[in-house]
Amino acid sequence: KRLAVFVSGGGSNFKAIHEAAKEGLVHGDIMVLVTDKPGCGGAEYARDNQIPVIIFPRSMSSPDAVSAAELVATLRNFEVDFLLLAGFLKLIPIELVQAFPRSILNIHPSLLPAFGGKGFYGLKVHKAVIASGARYSGPTVHFVDERYDTGRIVAQRVVPVLADDTAEQLAARVLHQEHQLYVEVVSALCEDRIVWREDGVPLICSRE
Ligand code: GRF
Repeated sequence: KRLAVFVSGGGSNFKAIHEAAKEGLVHGDIMVLVTDKPGCGGAEYARDNQIPVIIFPRSMSSPDAVSAAELVATLRNFEVDFLLLAGFLKLIPIELVQAFPRSILNIHPSLLPAFGGKGFYGLKVHKAVIASGARYSGPTVHFVDERYDTGRIVAQRVVPVLADDTAEQLAARVLHQEHQLYVEVVSALCEDRIVWREDGVPLICSRE
């Protein structure tokens, strides 16, 4: 399958998926990297690995960036099957959601629907989890709809929140699981092992 990855930051999930693809654990090729931050670690990694970088969305500070309609056209030109958000902080426009139905995944560092939505990103998520007194946290992979963090959940992993955890410690524990979980889900996606139940719930099937 042909993949587009969207990042705004360091891109450790992007790297995990790229490496899994190189090792044959994911039957997919990353055709293009989309970012709103052309100088971010993820974009640098893409350039180092000869993966084309597209800047989106267009703003005063990014005149080289593409519009939503141009992004849809570009992704179609690359014949992309699936879009993988990996720490992409901008909202995905409705044009994209409609152009790629049931084909856009995101990873979020909390057990959704808890600690999700606009404003819950980065360390803020982990600080809120710790402040709430929750004993468990962990990443969620979900399909993307036109809002933040509300699309159908595909998979989650649970990690403990320890009594003396800092947000940074919890973030590192969750991120470690993110890399494994995202690779697992993307591997299923690329093998057409995610099926949709009649009521709209996505299910991962194991390999025959
Ligand atoms: C991850 O915690 C992910 O859950 C969130 O943004 C972070 C991205 O980290 N959406 P990285 O850029 O993949 O290292």
